[in-house]
Amino acid sequence: MRVLLYAGKGGVGKTCVAGATGIISAKRGLKTLVMSLDPAHSLSDAFDLDLSLMDKNRGQPIDVGENLWIQELDVHEEIGNYWGEVHSYISLLLNTSGIDDVLAEELAVFPGMEELSALLYINKYVNEDSYDLIILDCAPTAESIRFISMPTALEWYMKKIFRLERKIFGVVRPVARRVVDIPLPEDEYFANIESLYTSLKGVDQLLTDPEVTSVRLVTNPEKMVLRETQRAFMFFSLHQTSIDAIVINRVFPSQVDDNYLKVWGRNQQKYMELAETYFYPLPIFKAPLYDSEILGHEKLLKFGEQLYGGEDPAQIFFKQKPYQFAKVDGQSVVKLHLPFVTKREIDLSKIGDELIIKIGNFKKNIVLPRAYAVLEPSRARLEEDHLLIEFGGSSEQAQERGEE
Ligand SMILES: Nc1ncnc2c1ncn2[C@@H]1O[C@H](COP(=O)(O)OP(=O)(O)O)[C@@H](O)[C@H]1O
Ligand SMILES: [Mg+2]
Repeated sequence: MRVLLYAGKGGVGKTCVAGATGIISAKRGLKTLVMSLDPAHSLSDAFDLDLSLMDKNRGQPIDVGENLWIQELDVHEEIGNYWGEVHSYISLLLNTSGIDDVLAEELAVFPGMEELSALLYINKYVNEDSYDLIILDCAPTAESIRFISMPTALEWYMKKIFRLERKIFGVVRPVARRVVDIPLPEDEYFANIESLYTSLKGVDQLLTDPEVTSVRLVTNPEKMVLRETQRAFMFFSLHQTSIDAIVINRVFPSQVDDNYLKVWGRNQQKYMELAETYFYPLPIFKAPLYDSEILGHEKLLKFGEQLYGGEDPAQIFFKQKPYQFAKVDGQSVVKLHLPFVTKREIDLSKIGDELIIKIGNFKKNIVLPRAYAVLEPSRARLEEDHLLIEFGGSSEQAQERGEE
């Protein structure tokens, strides 16, 4: 079982690449599902499918050829399947605050619901062994990072907040009902969250297992797009998701007569070379810019063949451990592969047995092994695409010195 994630900036060609990869893999005999996570779905458009077919099977996998299915998640369909109590409580809450029924229904689709629904499906398909390969056609970068960090965030919430919250509401509900006029969540609401959480068990391991999941960053040979690709690279690495290849799409053909396009071509060449150095040693797959949109099975197949040049797209193209606990010169060190960051962006802290790394708005908690948990981080440095965090002195010693 393999899971491939195609991520990148809006418009770079994720959907085309994901679709083409699906067609090639299905042709090679793998039972393949291409699932769109972008609320602005365009997978069915890329396959040039009849809209009425999509309407009939809203949100469900649709058979689009031998060994091949596509699925465009529909969060409104998922509410009925998974989110009943949570959704009705939030609608009720919004409703009490003066928002009318229809709008409250709409607003009660909160951020993360879409991503969690996708995770629920992935987990289900993996547990039921429904496909050999699941290809995820991601939403633009920021949302796909939220997607990948969702299991960790949920785990954290369930462990640190959820039980307490449930208990508190159990105790205060009868009293609070008389004092506040907003509805408080009933226990069914918590039961719903708990059952969702149970259904998601294991999905985090799946997404961080390099033997199962690989991220492929889709980009274009342009400065701004490459910049975003570097950021995405860093955030996926931070979340321990293995990136095994880069796809550069929309490369101008080398033979163009037009002077205007020649200038574009030269610029692209420069950024292609830069990309090679940025992402080395990851393999880079390139696809040309076509003279028209890539629509329908035939064109997607041709696009895929050009992209992979006969290679099996489901293979693992590159393996690297995202982080290691190692001894360097007798010092205990946490070593993270974290390219494209500067030291001043990184903020480190340790609470209990967790190391917390913040970069901008993003945060990752790493649970430390026992031998590290009793120590304090003493120094951090960047060395050749790696962040090295040295651990020294025990927490007790630090306390004695009055450092905590
Ligand atoms: N190499 C290419 N040559 C020509 N058109 C392309 C190419 N790659 C993508 N397109 C077109 O660009 C548009 C955006 O591509 P899409 O795959 O939907 O991007 P994304 O999913 O990243 O937003 C689509 O109309 C698609 O057909
Ligand atoms: Mg898309």
